Amino acid sequence: PEDGLSPPWYPSPRGGTDKAWEESYKKAAELVKQMTLPEKVNITTGTGWSMDMCVGQTGRVARLKFPSLCLQDGPLGIRFADNITAFPAGITTGATWNKELMYLRGKAHGKEARLKGVNVLLGPAMGPLGRMPAGGRVWEGFGSDPVLQGIAAAQTIKGIQDEGVMATAKHYVGNEQEHFRQAWEWGLPNAISSNIDDRTLHEIYAWPFADSVKAGVTSVMCSYNQVNSSYACQNSKLLNGVLKDELGFQGFIQSDWLAQRSGVASALAGLDMTMPGDGLRWAKGNSLWGPELTRAVLNGSVPIDRVDDMVTRVVASWYQVGQDKWDDEGPNFSSWTNDRVGKLHEGSPSNHDTGVVNKYVNAQGEGKEAHGHLVRRVAAEGTVLVKNEGRLLPLDRKGWKTSNKAKRRTKYRVGVFGEDARLPHEGINHCPDQSCNEGTLASGWGSGAVNYSYLIEPLSAIREAFDNETVYVTDWVENKLPSQKEILEDQDLCIVFANADAGEGYESYQSIRGDRNDLNLQKGGEKLIRDVAKGCGEGMGDVVVVIHAVGPVILEKFIDMMNVKAVIIANLPGTESGNAIVDVLFGDANPSGRLPYTIAKNEDDYGPGSKIKYLPSPSDGLAPQQNFSEGLYIDYRHFDKQGIEPRFEFGYGLSYTQFALSDLLIEEKGAKTPLPKPRPAGLTPPSYTTELPDPKSVLFPEGFRKVERYIYPWLDSLKGVTIANPAPPPPQSPLSDAGGGPGGNPDLYTTLLSVSASLENTGPVDGSSVVQLYISFPQNYKDPETGESVDFPVRVLRGFEKVHVDTKGGKLVNFELTRRDLSYWDVARQNWVVPVGEIGIGVGFSSRDLPLMGKW
Ligand code: NOJ
Repeated sequence: PEDGLSPPWYPSPRGGTDKAWEESYKKAAELVKQMTLPEKVNITTGTGWSMDMCVGQTGRVARLKFPSLCLQDGPLGIRFADNITAFPAGITTGATWNKELMYLRGKAHGKEARLKGVNVLLGPAMGPLGRMPAGGRVWEGFGSDPVLQGIAAAQTIKGIQDEGVMATAKHYVGNEQEHFRQAWEWGLPNAISSNIDDRTLHEIYAWPFADSVKAGVTSVMCSYNQVNSSYACQNSKLLNGVLKDELGFQGFIQSDWLAQRSGVASALAGLDMTMPGDGLRWAKGNSLWGPELTRAVLNGSVPIDRVDDMVTRVVASWYQVGQDKWDDEGPNFSSWTNDRVGKLHEGSPSNHDTGVVNKYVNAQGEGKEAHGHLVRRVAAEGTVLVKNEGRLLPLDRKGWKTSNKAKRRTKYRVGVFGEDARLPHEGINHCPDQSCNEGTLASGWGSGAVNYSYLIEPLSAIREAFDNETVYVTDWVENKLPSQKEILEDQDLCIVFANADAGEGYESYQSIRGDRNDLNLQKGGEKLIRDVAKGCGEGMGDVVVVIHAVGPVILEKFIDMMNVKAVIIANLPGTESGNAIVDVLFGDANPSGRLPYTIAKNEDDYGPGSKIKYLPSPSDGLAPQQNFSEGLYIDYRHFDKQGIEPRFEFGYGLSYTQFALSDLLIEEKGAKTPLPKPRPAGLTPPSYTTELPDPKSVLFPEGFRKVERYIYPWLDSLKGVTIANPAPPPPQSPLSDAGGGPGGNPDLYTTLLSVSASLENTGPVDGSSVVQLYISFPQNYKDPETGESVDFPVRVLRGFEKVHVDTKGGKLVNFELTRRDLSYWDVARQNWVVPVGEIGIGVGFSSRDLPLMGKW
């Protein structure tokens, strides 16, 4: 869609073409073969908002023991549940650059879902990808680069699915801002259209989804917004074409909640499941599918084999993760009440059936197995030290031997400042979905937030960490400082906390409607830090700044102040916040987090494409338009291209030790041919009889007791139903040469280069380094075949390894670069192409610190 249009792509590719899914598809076909039309429809359609226990539930097929599937948020923990863990957010996890931790976090999260009876977890998030640093939900994903997102998403998915829970790659695609993501929250006739060109779609926004499919993800959620003027959940090019044909996706596509905007069109475009079942409005009992899909099959609008494919995809996914081995107890918690006994159909105004809805199953693990240990590790490793002047950090638990004050005192004095250092006064869960910024910030808000089972306060953890025989800790944990100067003047060291929050667009906090209004610290954070720095030890005290934030914040107002010696970007740490920051402050964890985004000196430095569209403009037509005209040039790609000096570049972070790299070795493992091998043929998908069912079989069973507003697949009568065979199928759109396997043509994943380097820890303590590999495609490139110039970013991330090395020790670091890593998306050829000419390879410690350079 070079011109911002969405070309048609039909008919919808059937699932069952991939070897790794063969068994599951066989079993699914056996089951689906036995289903009636209403039974099939029941699996494609949610039962309606708040009609069952989870945020989304499908209808069951009791006769064949296929359960109602429970779908529950979200990316950092089990939403609306008790006794669960608030894991560090995606952005924090991305900042660890630690693949093993990404996997373990996913696995622990999956285990909690399993214990709570959740079949489908609504995460990980990889869109928004981070085009707009102020985007309200960027923190749910892993950072502003497709490769970082893709690797973190794949690791998370493997972790979740290894516990038998289906994972969801969301939001597909282009949902980069909250404003106007859908129409009804913003009083508009239509949702925003993200207009993305084909190359940018492939190289940036769809990239992590390809990794997710490669990792075996069972579900993908299409987003609320339009893409190139077609709603993401009925965009045949994106669903049928890119996701199902080109990327070979075998699982099912579910809609975001009410993101389905049409019945027939979405079915034909490749949507497989509508959530939460209601169409266009919440909990009104009307659906665009449910009985309407049944009707659409009977009247020939939707071919039955499309419905068969929808259901087979869902059932195969269920087998694929082994859920046929679960006992069908269903979810053991209610999203709608914390009471033990509650309504079984909360959303139904007239149904008063009750039962035990909360069993309070502890999913957090206990003792050594408690997930809190993992949270603490991820949070500490996801904390980025960006300034450490004079090696102020790590702190000494006993305080410094000498105080910088002339007057000798018996105790070292520490002051802790800022509201962000304490718990909220009203309780840790007093705002629904954490939609307020009060007290310490450990997650953003929205469906991606959870109720904390507990939250470790930074202030208490710091107090406990210092030895109170030798250190005296005072605090002022508000953002407005008191008039008494002593609280600052007396200190040797001041630790000041500040933050910036954002979240999903259906909630707002003060003037923040999802997206941030700017990239500044909130609640007077900058002034607080400046005042603390000015007053601390009469301007001579040392200052440590700790920032909890949903994304990049501008640091310019204080970063260069003389006594601001240390600055820590602690991201969103989750439930173990206080413990994690103490681990870093005192050196129990040697900081190894690296920025998953660029921190600019000025907001404008991110470029015009980074700006949230806060108001529709007259030229928008029926929907706000958002042209991704910067193309590939987001975050560091933009800074590098424009030669803009950031404050701290993508991939940057300090350690308490030093590392050195040497001995770059580049070995060719595969031939440098421009194109991948031809697309291999896949397996033949299952097929069923295409005869229409006896129309009477779609009527409500006799004596059926309906729950008001619950969504059923049956019809009340056949009045107005014309029975007709489907129209002949549309001509087959050409299959993509880039397809043929999970994540695309298998040859794209052939290793072409292997790169290694030696890493040494030359500093005083043990620690981990994140070794990053960037490639540079030829500059001023002209395609030798077409003569057209192709523009490339200065460099792009293609791999990273987190390596622990003891002091004075060394290790070898290895990278494998695949054909896809070394290709760009050629729009004319509609394929991944390795450019002719030299490809530069840089290995180092950040996107701007690449001591080893080589070529291929
Ligand atoms: C809407 C959000 O965009 C999505 O991320 C979430 O999974 C659903 N609501 C369900 O809560």
